Amino acid sequence: MTGEKMLRFNLIVAVCENFGIGLKGDLPWSIKSELKYFSRTTKRTSDPCKSNAVIMGRRTYFGVPASKRPLPERLNIVLSTTLQPADLPSDVVLCSNLEEAMKHLETKALRDEIENVWIVGGSGVYKEAMASPRCDRLYITKIQQNFECDTFFPSIPDSFREVSPDADTPLGVQEENGIKYEYKVLKKIE
Ligand SMILES: NC(=O)c1ccc[n+]([C@@H]2O[C@H](COP(=O)([O-])OP(=O)(O)OC[C@H]3O[C@@H](n4cnc5c(N)ncnc54)[C@H](OP(=O)(O)O)[C@@H]3O)[C@@H](O)[C@H]2O)c1
Repeated sequence: MTGEKMLRFNLIVAVCENFGIGLKGDLPWSIKSELKYFSRTTKRTSDPCKSNAVIMGRRTYFGVPASKRPLPERLNIVLSTTLQPADLPSDVVLCSNLEEAMKHLETKALRDEIENVWIVGGSGVYKEAMASPRCDRLYITKIQQNFECDTFFPSIPDSFREVSPDADTPLGVQEENGIKYEYKVLKKIE
């Protein structure tokens, strides 16, 4: 790169005890406050003039209810090798791999507009993201229960260590509808 710092990203996921993240294209659980945390965290910027980008695989994008996608107030980037741009709304960016998505965000026009980049799933995208030198933090909601799942979170490389969550993150074990969960943040040790 020419003098500019490499653009980095964070990853955000909710995982249950058996490492599941999805079932039949949807989330295996319903935890409204966790969805609000996802929304708040992926929208948050320190510069009010900027916004964030979310990068996701094709199945994750279409797993979001039609009325709630694209995810509002964030630039949505969908990874796919089979979709055509016409299959997506005009404000959604289609990229054929993760590096192409990052290079797109590094173009001058977007570099000054986008503050944070969030990897929001699914399985293969998380795996590639955690192996990338661009990966900074993992925002993991640990759900303290087993759920039936068909999609799983890949193993976390040894290079990540737990750090304190952001100031507005509820600390300790949370509970909604009898489901206990906790917000964790891991950072890559350089
Ligand atoms: N618990 C959570 O926090 C969480 C978060 C996200 C998703 N989920 C759940 O996980 C499930 C979806 O995840 P998934 O793993 O099945 O699918 P996914 O990763 O969302 O989508 C897979 C598809 O995305 C495209 N893709 C993925 N990586 C790519 C890459 N590097 N380059 C180009 N294209 C790429 C490919 O599309 P083409 O076949 O078109 O090439 C691939 O078939 C759903 O059940 C969803 O609800 C849960």
